Amino acid sequence: MVGLGKTVDNGGEPLTILQDISFSVMPGETVAIVGASGSGKSTLLGLLAGLDVPTAGEIRLDGVSLAALDEDARALARGRLLGFVFQSFQLLPALTALENVMLPLELAGRKDAAALARDWLERVGLGHRLKHYPKHLSGGEQQRVALARAFSPAPRLVLADEPTGNLDAVTGKQIIELMFDLNTRQGTTLILVTHDEAIAARCGRVLRIQSVA
Ligand SMILES: Nc1ncnc2c1ncn2[C@@H]1O[C@H](COP(=O)(O)OP(=O)(O)O)[C@@H](O)[C@H]1O
Ligand SMILES: [Mg+2]
Repeated sequence: MVGLGKTVDNGGEPLTILQDISFSVMPGETVAIVGASGSGKSTLLGLLAGLDVPTAGEIRLDGVSLAALDEDARALARGRLLGFVFQSFQLLPALTALENVMLPLELAGRKDAAALARDWLERVGLGHRLKHYPKHLSGGEQQRVALARAFSPAPRLVLADEPTGNLDAVTGKQIIELMFDLNTRQGTTLILVTHDEAIAARCGRVLRIQSVA
């Protein structure tokens, strides 16, 4: 991506959240983005995911500018290329663990969504929790479901936004180990936002984002 910027209208006052960010990521790379709280890390991930539109610069995925795609095409590219892991897990509360993992697989047209989702939940150690709803799962278990959901469609790129931010130290470490293990086995490209230097150091490259203000 080149010269990326994001300015928002903050009640009439333009507020610059990101300014002149440029970097590229090669397939299979693991990259940590580190910065203080409020420095714009989540905003940057949202732009990379095509969930939000930059006010300056452009983002290219496989040489294709995201801006050249309309909303539907961006959603399609997102579904095919990207997996997400969030700090707050973001599982759908009305769906069981199994159904949460099945959803993106079904959207991708996989006929074997149920069997594949079950395999993946077993892989993350939750074979015995298939029919549990998120509210009956611990934080660590919810993040395991989220990892299965992110990796099971075999995305090219996984974006993780402080994936251990809501977990205790021991559980967080287990989740990080699992995420790196899945990532290595799948050969996925990983962009990980964190303020934990020890986690960042696990990545092949660390990018630091400095606050604009
Ligand atoms: N839509 C928005 N309107 C106004 N301010 C925003 C908006 N989105 C983010 N911000 C502000 O931009 C800054 C960066 O936010 P964020 O990307 O969430 O940072 P981080 O993830 O690094 O903590 C914060 O100060 C936040 O309050
Ligand atoms: Mg954030």
